[in-house]
This record gives sequence, C-alpha cells and structure tokens, in this order.
Amino acid sequence: MLTPAAMLVFVASFATAQESQTSPSQAVDMTKGLSEWDKIYAVFSHPRCADCHVADGRPRWSGAHYGGTRVHAFNVQRGDDGSGFGNPGLRCTTCHFASNSNALHGPPGAENWRLAPAEMAWFGKSSAEICAQIKDPARNGGRSLDDIALHVRDDRLVGWGWAPGSNREPAPGSAEATFQAIENWLAVGSPCPVP
Ligand code: HEC
Ligand code: HEC
Repeated sequence: MLTPAAMLVFVASFATAQESQTSPSQAVDMTKGLSEWDKIYAVFSHPRCADCHVADGRPRWSGAHYGGTRVHAFNVQRGDDGSGFGNPGLRCTTCHFASNSNALHGPPGAENWRLAPAEMAWFGKSSAEICAQIKDPARNGGRSLDDIALHVRDDRLVGWGWAPGSNREPAPGSAEATFQAIENWLAVGSPCPVP
C-alpha cells in the first residue's frame, strides 16, 4: 500500500514526465498537419505555380486555356547564366511585362518575370517529395518555414498565381489562406506524407 505522501510524489513525477514528452513545441499532430499540408500541396502543384518551378529550364503552358500541358513555345530556356531570365536575345521580359496582357493568349505578367532556380523545381513531383523539398534550406533559398509563408503571402510572382488573367484558372484559395495554412502546418510540427 502506498502512503498518501508517496502517492503525491508518484503523481507529481508522472505529470512531469508526461509534460516533457508532449511540450507544445515538440508535438506533431499528424491528422491536422497532413490536412493543412494537403491545402498547401494543392496550391504548389497547381499549374499556375508549378509551370515556373521546372527542373529542365523549360517553362510549361498548361490547363484548359492551353489545351493540356506542353513546353513553352519559342524554345524559351532558363538561360545560360542560370538567372532564370532566359537567354540573351530571348529574355522573359521581351514578352512578359509587369502586368498581364488582356489579350486572349497574350503573355501574362508580373515584375521580374522569370523561372525559379533549378533547385526549387517541383513540377511533376509527388506530394511527399515537394513537402521534403520546401522544408530543406538547401533547396528553398535558405528559408525557414516562416520565411516561406511570408514569401507566399507577399511575393509578386507567387501572387500572380491567384490573378493570372485572360481566362487562366487561378491557383486554389488565396495568398492569405495559403499563408495561414503554412503557419497552421508549422504550429503542429509540419509533418510530411509518407512517400
Ligand atoms: C513566373 C514564374 C513563377 C511563378 C508563376 C511562381 N513562382 Fe515561385 N518562384 C519563382 C522564382 C523566380 C523564385 C525564386 C525567388 C527567390 O528565391 O527569391 C520562386 C520561389 C518560390 C518559393 C521560395 C523557394 C522555395 O522553393 O521554397 C516558394 C515557396 C514559391 N516560389 C511558391 C510559389 C507558389 C505557391 C506559386 C503559385 C501561387 C509560385 N511560386 C508561382 C518563380 C515563380
Ligand atoms: C517570345 C515571347 C515570350 C518569351 C521570350 C517568354 N514567354 Fe512566357 N509566354 C508567352 C506568351 C505569349 C504566353 C501566353 C500563351 C497563351 O496564353 O497561350 C506565355 C505564357 C507563359 C506562362 C504561363 C503558363 C501557365 O500555364 O501558367 C509562363 C509560366 C511563362 N510564359 C514563363 C516564361 C518564362 C519563365 C520565360 C523566360 C525564361 C518566358 N515565359 C519567356 C510569351 C513569351
């Protein structure tokens, strides 16, 4: 039989052990986290985002507006200098200006229109692959997940994905909702789906 004093000690040490295992900053809520990730993935994998995040340096045209997915016309490339602005003589900004052309099939636009660097490519990758990639500072421009959330909320090229012009289907949701989903995902431990 435990004396009342021994019971108290037992209860107190049990509570301490429990607390240290489930401190809020460590806890990963898989169910909530994966449901937030699904919202983020739906945006990142959408053609309005993925078509600029390509590994082979060839932007894509896709969606009903384009009649499927194909490589960008005019043999457009990332560019030999790796900047993403295209080769000399055929820079993105030859055709893409700071705002959308209103003409059907006219070039869309936003400031500094260019391809994402090769290490930030996720066109055609799985949900698990994209998830691991955007958490990896070596492949996300040295960003924390807070930085990623802010980039998604404030960057103009990202913002274009929700206002692509000329009958193009926008990315799902909004910049603000995606910012919030990344913050919510981060708060529950930012879990990734199993590959
Ligand atoms: C016109 C091309 C273009 C479009 C469209 C575009 N991006 Fe990007 N994206 C870039 C470029 C260029 C960078 C690199 C910017 C930097 O590192 O400062 C980048 C970087 C990023 C980054 C930070 C680095 C990383 O890989 O984690 C995120 C996050 C991102 N884009 C998300 C999106 C989302 C979400 C959309 C759609 C809503 C989108 N992008 C649409 C060109 C584009
Ligand atoms: C010779 C002109 C020209 C050049 C150079 C050019 N583009 Fe385009 N781009 C267009 C036109 C026109 C469209 C719209 C086509 C349509 O709607 O049918 C377009 C559309 C796009 C789209 C929208 C695709 C989608 O489905 O979301 C992206 C992304 C894109 N270009 C990226 C780039 C990048 C990055 C560069 C530079 C590396 C570049 N373009 C260079 C003319 C050009």
